[in-house]
Amino acid sequence: MKKILVIGSEGQLGSELKLLHSNFDKAEFTFTTIESLDVTNQTDLTNQITSDSYSYIINCTAYTAVDKAESDQALADQINHQALKTIGKSASEIGAKVIHVSTDYVFDGTNYKPYTEIDVTSPNSVYGKTKLAGEKALMNANANSIILRTSWLYSMFGNNFVKTMLTLGKERSDLNVIFDQVGSPTFARDLAKVILNIIEKDITFEISFQSGIYHYSNEGVCSWFDFTRTIHEIANITCNVKPIESKDYPTAAPRPHYSVLNKSKIKTVYNVDIPYWKDSLKECIANINQ
Ligand SMILES: NC(=O)c1ccc[n+]([C@@H]2O[C@H](COP(=O)([O-])OP(=O)(O)OC[C@H]3O[C@@H](n4cnc5c(N)ncnc54)[C@H](OP(=O)(O)O)[C@@H]3O)[C@@H](O)[C@H]2O)c1
Repeated sequence: MKKILVIGSEGQLGSELKLLHSNFDKAEFTFTTIESLDVTNQTDLTNQITSDSYSYIINCTAYTAVDKAESDQALADQINHQALKTIGKSASEIGAKVIHVSTDYVFDGTNYKPYTEIDVTSPNSVYGKTKLAGEKALMNANANSIILRTSWLYSMFGNNFVKTMLTLGKERSDLNVIFDQVGSPTFARDLAKVILNIIEKDITFEISFQSGIYHYSNEGVCSWFDFTRTIHEIANITCNVKPIESKDYPTAAPRPHYSVLNKSKIKTVYNVDIPYWKDSLKECIANINQ
């Protein structure tokens, strides 16, 4: 039986993987949390990875507080960048394949058409810079690795935009939301399914593990304003949502105005069907309301 190590299993993606893993009978899973494995401790990280004959390592850890990262660069760098050197090195020592997750924020958002994996990266925030450095560190470590760049992740777990807008929509009669940042929401469960699908296809020899960078989000495009309107419509919340410009909602970290990801590569190589963002949003809100 193959063994899979999931690092950072209490975040949005990690929690979804934990939820789905009981239906995955092709491997045994080990889940670590920040309490059982802090990835800033290089020795612990190395020891954990080399402690067993893992075939796959899924890294779900990240420093995701985008604004806080601007003033907490050292820690963001340790988690999003330095840890990837160790994960890559240790994985390559034991011959494990790595699946790591990165972000649309590696792009500056000046494109006018969806970003492909070979488009030039130019992050404009500390978060984006440290995530990009992590991608490079992993690739330089010579591990067999897949990097999935995703965007606007949400789930029933943790704090995220969907849960915030559900709460604010119920509490307030009016809300101002940015309409000049455009991207694609991603239900963390869909991302978790794709990760398990990639591993399953490798284990069953259907499609061998193809190292490289891939873009994955739900299908379709919207602004944060449209996203909010749709969240409220699905949840039957009456709230007057008004579109505002980014300049009227200053944040510590600049965000890309356009960060839509082109997903042709993952669809071609891995033959995946990607759900439309509104369908996945309905599924998530139904889960939250259960
Ligand atoms: N969220 C988004 O909108 C978004 C968008 C694009 C890409 N991504 C990427 O998608 C991936 C998954 O994101 P997510 O939303 O699931 O993130 P998340 O919910 O913030 O989860 C990250 C997990 O990493 C853990 N962690 C932080 N520091 C750690 C450390 N030193 N050692 C071990 N664990 C540590 C966190 O623990 P604590 O909670 O206890 O700190 C948390 O459980 C990340 O790579 C992220 O960069 C996310």
